[in-house]
Amino acid sequence: MHSVSVPFLSCIKGTLPDTPPVWFMRQAGRHLPEYRELRRKAGSFMNLCLDSELAALATLQPVSRYDTDAAILFADILLIAHAMGVSLRFEEGKGPQLHPPAKPSDLPEYENTDISRSLEPVFNTVRLVKAGLAPGKALIGFAGAPWTVMTYMLAGGTQSDPAGSRREYYRNPSFIRDFLGIIADKTVDYLVGQIDAGADAVQLFESWATGLPWSVLEDVSVRPLDEITRRIKEKRPAIPVILFPKGAGEKMQAYARIACCDVLGIDYCVDPVWVRENIAPFKTIQGGPDPLLVLEGGKRMEAMARRYLEIFSGIPYVFNLGHGLHPQTPVENVYKLMEIVREG
Ligand code: CP3
Repeated sequence: MHSVSVPFLSCIKGTLPDTPPVWFMRQAGRHLPEYRELRRKAGSFMNLCLDSELAALATLQPVSRYDTDAAILFADILLIAHAMGVSLRFEEGKGPQLHPPAKPSDLPEYENTDISRSLEPVFNTVRLVKAGLAPGKALIGFAGAPWTVMTYMLAGGTQSDPAGSRREYYRNPSFIRDFLGIIADKTVDYLVGQIDAGADAVQLFESWATGLPWSVLEDVSVRPLDEITRRIKEKRPAIPVILFPKGAGEKMQAYARIACCDVLGIDYCVDPVWVRENIAPFKTIQGGPDPLLVLEGGKRMEAMARRYLEIFSGIPYVFNLGHGLHPQTPVENVYKLMEIVREG
């Protein structure tokens, strides 16, 4: 069979491209007028996530508009909590609401739930996207890292700092370890399901690496991610695994030791020169620039994009941002970024 090269995948596998492959976290979403239209049609964010046809359209929209090298599945990291039996709602301006907040007596129920049935619409989205994606484009599946998902489940929603989970870890470490273990098991099933439906790579979002003390990070974040990535590689060895430990700072080094991680995403706080010296020798790097600069646009955004491209020149690097695109980002600024990345 004639195979078309997929720049995003070849870059991860170590081929130096002419210009870095590029995609953006939250490339599908509220900054796109065509997304806002779909979202209105769907009625709620949950309906949109669980309607495979609409979710597939949302996934493909930014790839068609910007010609990014990868699509990221349109779904949410908290769908797995929903699949474990927790009620999940997204309220305008309030973020996710999970009910009831998790407690130790809930663990057996979480453990015994078969998530694959309620997540079937997501697998179906993957199949539809795969069928509609242009040759040469990759499809990235994803899940939340156990610590991040658990933090939302314990708090019942968004908080400014994962202090509640940290405190619970000190008070009742075996509850937290068991809880993380259950989420990790479900996450392996979830990601393998996405891979089998057609995902070309998977990303794990550790959005709450922010605020993790050095003494706790290994136990609650690095170890579960090490286990998940190892089990994915055992089952599906050809699939690249991306980790994005947002807010990890110099503790990125601990994630760089995770053997079955291929790519590390970097946020906008960590110094890219330090990353090039200390992390890039071990893992392909993805991301970096502050999404708020893309919200603002102009010369500062352009200079920052060029700075990252220069720092990571000469090695495989995936262009992305240091977190998701802000909902108010003008599409013109994203076009400009694409132009800068592709000019080489
Ligand atoms: O384009 C893409 O990135 C694909 C889809 C995607 C969404 N969420 C859609 C979404 C992905 C990869 C995510 C990941 C996600 N979800 C993370 C990890 C990345 C990060 O932001 O740190 C987290 C923490 C969540 C949980 C979540 N989902 C929160 C806290 C919120 C509310 C805040 C907000 O941005 O509104 C969401 C909602 C959400 N997830 C939206 C989208 C497009 C907006 C909801 C809407 O359209 O009404």
